[in-house]
Amino acid sequence: MSVLAWKSLQSLHHFTPRFRILRPMEIVVSGIRSTGNLHLGNYFGAMKNFIRMQHEQECYFFIADYHALTTHPDPAQLRASARSVLVEYLACGIDPEASTIYLQSDLKEIPELYMLLNMHAYVGELEKVPTFKEKVRKQPENVNAGLLTYPVLMAADVMIHKATKVPVGKDQEQHLEMARNFANRFNHFYGIDFFPEPYPFNFGEQLVKVPGLDGSGKMGKSEGAANAIYLREEEAVLRKKVMRAVTDSGPTTPNSPVTETVGNLFTLLSLVSTPVIVDQFKSAYADCSIRYGDLKKQLADDIAAFVAPIRERIFEIDADEALINRTLEMGAEKARVSASKTLREVREIMGFKAN
Ligand code: TRP
Repeated sequence: MSVLAWKSLQSLHHFTPRFRILRPMEIVVSGIRSTGNLHLGNYFGAMKNFIRMQHEQECYFFIADYHALTTHPDPAQLRASARSVLVEYLACGIDPEASTIYLQSDLKEIPELYMLLNMHAYVGELEKVPTFKEKVRKQPENVNAGLLTYPVLMAADVMIHKATKVPVGKDQEQHLEMARNFANRFNHFYGIDFFPEPYPFNFGEQLVKVPGLDGSGKMGKSEGAANAIYLREEEAVLRKKVMRAVTDSGPTTPNSPVTETVGNLFTLLSLVSTPVIVDQFKSAYADCSIRYGDLKKQLADDIAAFVAPIRERIFEIDADEALINRTLEMGAEKARVSASKTLREVREIMGFKAN
């Protein structure tokens, strides 16, 4: 893709603040585990904020391909997923000039910091992490040590750049609490104020939890393909999935509380539609005139309109091998500057010779 085409693509997403508050640039890090194609949950939970932050702060956005190893993908699948996440990052408007985009496995400093942090992470606290307990329940045949130390690797991702802001969805809150513990513990143990505390960030709003289409829980790949709408989803498939979303038998008395299943559809609608339309359906629910078929049709239309331009750019960028390679090389090089500095200092603080 030409530089000009890039620029025009960027202008679609450029977030222009109405005023600028003078404050030092903060360091932002976030990543998405590459276990398949990205869906609306990834977009509204994380990526939307990446795009909003990239022109204002020093941002590092990476593809968490080491984290993807916990579920044992085969090598070809691992590589393909990492590539498709990169393409989707770019298609959504993450600008490789404004932010640093890289592959986690391209930075040797991350596994080294992870190993060092593991010496100060306790098995007892790691076993208590809800996401770990959930994995133990869901995949008892594969409770590997990488799964147990997942939060340590995630802390290393954030701490390697000494980041303070981490744009993530609600499901990552506890992992970041662990990262703050590790940062504080390190500082305390070595008697130095070195690592800042990283916090989840969503522009002062509540962290987002994007529901799936199956009536409960979050949108995610592990919940089944019918539960998630992918950014590269074909329109016909997308419509079919939405029309099959789980609902209930409908309200029978006026002003009844909205059920979880229908509430989830309202939440999805509020992400892609206008407040006026959302209010229309909410009032129709309140006076029992709502028809779920209409609600789903509206939701399908609005999701389709939202996804269409992104899908188009995904296919364009997918074909541009040179852009993909250039982005990864440039990103790894930029990320290495800050990562190697942090690691050098950490090694020294811990008593190793600086190298
Ligand atoms: N755990 C995150 C997820 O599943 C991905 C991730 C890995 C991450 N390392 C990170 C997110 C560092 C933010 C910061 O989505």
